[in-house]
Amino acid sequence: MSYSIVELLFILTLKETRMNLFKRGVMMLATKQLKEEHAAVKFMLKVLDNICARISKGEEVDPNHLTRITEFLIVFVDKCHHAKEEEILFPQLEKMGVINKGGPIGTLLEEHNIGRNYIKGLREAVERYSAKDYSATEDLLKNTQGYKNLLTQHIEEEDTNIFVLADQLINEEMQEKLAEEFEKIEVERIGTGKHEEFHELLHELEHTYLS
Ligand SMILES: [Fe+2]
Ligand SMILES: [Fe+2]
Repeated sequence: MSYSIVELLFILTLKETRMNLFKRGVMMLATKQLKEEHAAVKFMLKVLDNICARISKGEEVDPNHLTRITEFLIVFVDKCHHAKEEEILFPQLEKMGVINKGGPIGTLLEEHNIGRNYIKGLREAVERYSAKDYSATEDLLKNTQGYKNLLTQHIEEEDTNIFVLADQLINEEMQEKLAEEFEKIEVERIGTGKHEEFHELLHELEHTYLS
């Protein structure tokens, strides 16, 4: 029996999702998953720090790395991680009485938006830098530093306050349901094969900038 490419992709996506669920033991708490993702974000912030130091010293950095890092920040961090918080965890917390506007959720949402502006600026600067327009260096450094400072304190706030509160308010059964919703976002927004591509990128960047 032969399949069309669309059917094959669909089958592979389902397979990958089930494998992920199995690997994660299905029982993984939603907040634990988000904390693990923070570790990957913090790794990328460390790489960006090293890249900024090199650029500041006048060294040239591989534009291909900058392009792929920007894609990671857009797809993995914003479209996937921030979406899980904005569309699933925060609304659940709101239902349980945590304040949005003028409260902790409102502040975190505002920070996600500020982050998006930095990424927009970074993407434009990377495009110019890749075209050998080195006047883009200043914008590249400004947006990267701004993003790094913002995300560092944002992650700290979530890990030490909002996720701790979530663990107190949301029982394990509900956390598992939220984690299942997270899986849907992963498949819809990241897609098949992207995880492997990002893993490869992390290894390559570690070797180039952190060892
Ligand atoms: Fe967040
Ligand atoms: Fe987060």
